Amino acid sequence: MPIILGIESSCDDTAAAVLVDGHIRSNIVASQDVHREYGGVVPELAARAHLQNIIPVVDQALSKANIDKKEVNAVAYTLGPGLIGSLLVGNSFAKSLAMSLNVPLIEVNHMQAHLLVHFEKSIPNPSFPFIGLTVSGGHTQLVLVKSPNRMEVIGQTLDDAVGEAFDKAGKMIGLPYPAGPHIDKYAQDGEPNISFSMPKVPGLDFSFSGFKTSVLYYLRKQQKLDKDYIRNHRNDLCSSVQYILVNILIEKLKKAVIETGIKEIVIGGGVSANSGLRLALSKQTDWNVFIPPLSFTTDNAAMIAVAGYFKYQNKSFGDLNRQAQSRMVL
Ligand code: KG4
Ligand code: ZN
Repeated sequence: MPIILGIESSCDDTAAAVLVDGHIRSNIVASQDVHREYGGVVPELAARAHLQNIIPVVDQALSKANIDKKEVNAVAYTLGPGLIGSLLVGNSFAKSLAMSLNVPLIEVNHMQAHLLVHFEKSIPNPSFPFIGLTVSGGHTQLVLVKSPNRMEVIGQTLDDAVGEAFDKAGKMIGLPYPAGPHIDKYAQDGEPNISFSMPKVPGLDFSFSGFKTSVLYYLRKQQKLDKDYIRNHRNDLCSSVQYILVNILIEKLKKAVIETGIKEIVIGGGVSANSGLRLALSKQTDWNVFIPPLSFTTDNAAMIAVAGYFKYQNKSFGDLNRQAQSRMVL
């Protein structure tokens, strides 16, 4: 009955989780409100907040799981990719803890973990091979996943990530950071009656910069005619932004299904919380779609512990000399 402690600190969430025999027993996330007033993550502030949060978060994860730290069999942590200062906090903490408990250390790739969290034993598990779509504030990738350690990026964004597109469009509409969940909420009371430009990127790659510019120009034009345009049309604006962003993702997924012949689809990352995306995926009745529970979508350590469990079973352990990696390929 292996017990894995997972630790995540790649961006602005400090998280710890306990996995017992493949089941998540606790999943604690301390989000950092300090970035809100800056409209985005400030790396130095994030690293400082991780330092303050990491011990209480790990303590809470252990006590909620009713596990003593001496019972932990391995410490899994996010090696990368992410903000270097943030990663360093988790990296040094996990190394010291593993060393003091005399248990193996496991290095996890954050982007792989967003997909591998689907193998937690209490939820429906996909089968290999599958197409993974990771949609977060930092990434938009289509991944061909042949096994837990054989992943190939088959498409990715050429500019912004889709979460960033939600956040930046939301900022123009006057919504607080991160705007994705606010857009989702207001979209439910609006109509997608504004057509923003749809990118024309060949193959399986994505682009969101043209969309962003079209929102900016559209708003400028409308505000010249009506200075309260945004306030008067907030819900329709949100609904239209969400409609196009979801459409971009679904169109590329359809292409990936045709190109690979694989209909097993696994979604991961913060934007998979989006209700418009969830609805659009539910309409693809000939696909077998796996959408994670909300607590496994935005950054969390459950995914680090689950991904770590695969490595634990293969005895693929980490190295105390390994440096955090801000850039890390799949
Ligand atoms: O995976 P995540 O927590 O962190 C990164 O690794 O980036 O993703 C955060 C992103 C943010 O851009 C946020 O606006 C977006 O996920 N997000 C959403 C929703 N919930 C979170 N976007 C659209 N609709 C949502 N419901
Ligand atoms: Zn993430």
